[in-house]
Amino acid sequence: MAEELAALLVHAREVTVQTHAGRRFHVGTLHGVPVVLVLCGIGKVAAAMTTTLLAERFTPRMLVFTGVAGGLGDGVRVGDVVVAEALLQHDMDASPLFPRFEVPLTGRSRFDADPDLTAALVAAAQGLGDAAPALHHGLVISGDRFVSAAAECAALRQALPDALAVEMEGAALAQVCHDLGLPFAVLRSISDRADDSAHVDFTQFIQGAAQASAAIVGQWLKGDPR
Ligand code: ADE
Repeated sequence: MAEELAALLVHAREVTVQTHAGRRFHVGTLHGVPVVLVLCGIGKVAAAMTTTLLAERFTPRMLVFTGVAGGLGDGVRVGDVVVAEALLQHDMDASPLFPRFEVPLTGRSRFDADPDLTAALVAAAQGLGDAAPALHHGLVISGDRFVSAAAECAALRQALPDALAVEMEGAALAQVCHDLGLPFAVLRSISDRADDSAHVDFTQFIQGAAQASAAIVGQWLKGDPR
């Protein structure tokens, strides 16, 4: 989100901007670490495109995605943070040719985040002390829908009982990173419960989420992620 990018850019130094395919890639340092910061865009195609451009043009060693998500799992509340262990496209369905959710010709529906990078982000969030959000670690699901109806939310919970959160980009980025062999992590602040009031909660929550992700990424970078 623009608010998250802005919260990170405040701390960035020596920034130059390169524009490709309508995206502004901010190249600089953050807490002394060389970084490229970019808005992902919304939805799976935007995420796949941004991820591919980042990987091919800037050859990063690792990729961290931050954003907001709707909470699905029991006990996943607004303001909590979910760190993805694996990601799945909940709107992928080429059945009966392939099992529901499986990405055709890959033999898989779940794409794992890098365990070390994920653990480092969890440790960074915990390192925020009193400011640390409640943390969850597990399956994050993505699709080209803003889930804002209790019935749809219930259907997703039934089909994928271990899903903690729903968003619109993570699994696309995960598939691209898997193909490219690029370690990645996905960190999501919960903005709503993907129910009938999701759209209201979402807009109210953005600023808080932006500060939370910037704080966690900052704490991680200060700990020397190399
Ligand atoms: N991102 C934040 N909340 C969401 C929701 N309810 N559905 C999809 N993406 C989201």
